[in-house]
Amino acid sequence: MGVIASAPAKIILFGEHFVVYGEPAIVTAIDKRAHVTAELRKDKRIYIRSPDLKASGYFSQKNHFQAEQGGQEARPKLEPIKIAVQKILALSKEENGVNIDVQSNIPVAAGLGSSAAVAAATGTAVSQLLGIEISKEDVFRIAYEAERFVHGTPSGIDPAISTHGGVLLFCKDKGFTPLNVKEDIPLVVGDTGIERSTGEMVSGVRQRRERYPSIVNPIIKSGGKVALRAAKALETGDLNALGELMNINHAMLSAIGVSNEFLDRLVYSARKAGALGAKLTGAGGGGCMVALSPPDKLKQVVDAIKLEGGVAFVARKTNEGVRIEG
Ligand code: MEV
Repeated sequence: MGVIASAPAKIILFGEHFVVYGEPAIVTAIDKRAHVTAELRKDKRIYIRSPDLKASGYFSQKNHFQAEQGGQEARPKLEPIKIAVQKILALSKEENGVNIDVQSNIPVAAGLGSSAAVAAATGTAVSQLLGIEISKEDVFRIAYEAERFVHGTPSGIDPAISTHGGVLLFCKDKGFTPLNVKEDIPLVVGDTGIERSTGEMVSGVRQRRERYPSIVNPIIKSGGKVALRAAKALETGDLNALGELMNINHAMLSAIGVSNEFLDRLVYSARKAGALGAKLTGAGGGGCMVALSPPDKLKQVVDAIKLEGGVAFVARKTNEGVRIEG
């Protein structure tokens, strides 16, 4: 018998990239989830299958990898999931092998936290399968380790939200505070369909900061201030202020070099269609943007993004972090 766990995707509303340098950021869990099924194997191998990543294969106890689908590229894609599995297997007295099957409706490499959601769900499913009790803090740490493989210096915002859900004011080193958001925050996501590497985007910002510290550091600091002001607007339900702050945040992300023409076009088309604000979300360079839309303009905003060539969908916040299904 298998165990199924799921964890949510996320949208960073304020402060991506700046959060890597210790500034606060705001992130919400949304109603798209990764589902992971874990089953015991008769041998000691770890078999992982992820149709989204177009990859599957076997890791032996000695860490040899044999691809079943995806060839050479399968290993780096599946490695973070294997790291999450191994962290749990190491807590067990017995030596076990497991099958991991990933089913997810979160777009991959698009800034919506797919890899952290899969890692959090994997850790939770395998621990339940083996009867090992772990806390949410443990799940966070396991997903964080997996995320470190994806890119070297993660702030931890993605593992935190896929573990805990809700809307969080997150600060690397200081942890997070759940925000009390009573209002519906109607969001439209526009996906450019361009996959990009978070690691490369983070390293591009690091280089620009090293070249122009006296210019980039104040932008990073202001990014933190935008997030703190936005936390107030979220808690008081001031959607107009939120929208304006999203626009400011997008301009700052452009300034540090992580937007591109396609993202800008989606952002501007959403604003023109009546969004209160719009910005890229996640690492940038491709991936997704997000627009805050008045409820009666949702359809127009979705249509405008589609007309500009993006894939658009409405996203709702969810309080549900990682959980066992059924
Ligand atoms: C990626 O979802 C968000 C970044 O700020 C990187 C991180 O915080 O680890 C770009």
